[in-house]
Amino acid sequence: MAVKFGDLIYTPETAKGEALSKVESHTPKIEAPDKVKAGEPFTIHVSVGPHPNKVEHSIRELHIYFYEEGRPFNPVHVASARFAPGITEPELTLKLKLEKSGVIYAVAYCNLHGLWESRKEIKVE
Ligand SMILES: [Fe+2]
Repeated sequence: MAVKFGDLIYTPETAKGEALSKVESHTPKIEAPDKVKAGEPFTIHVSVGPHPNKVEHSIRELHIYFYEEGRPFNPVHVASARFAPGITEPELTLKLKLEKSGVIYAVAYCNLHGLWESRKEIKVE
């Protein structure tokens, strides 16, 4: 049977074999507060690397999602970016405003090493 799409996404916890050496350079780093106030804007910063940034090999995309506690269907798509190799570094700064606690997910795409996920819980008070 064909592999489920979710099983194609590497995480630090599930990477094995050759992928283990790629964890540090491909897993998105999410800088965000642990706690925020409901409805008050705050900033998150997501970056990948250090990673090569050449036409032959670069982080091409970054996708941000939010799992909102209590929502019947998840996740919410927050933002996506495509990066031109050699010109842009794979970084995003976003201003968010949440009403409920949940989890921020970042998924990076490297043209040679596939999809890499990380996550960060945010409590809304
Ligand atoms: Fe890579």
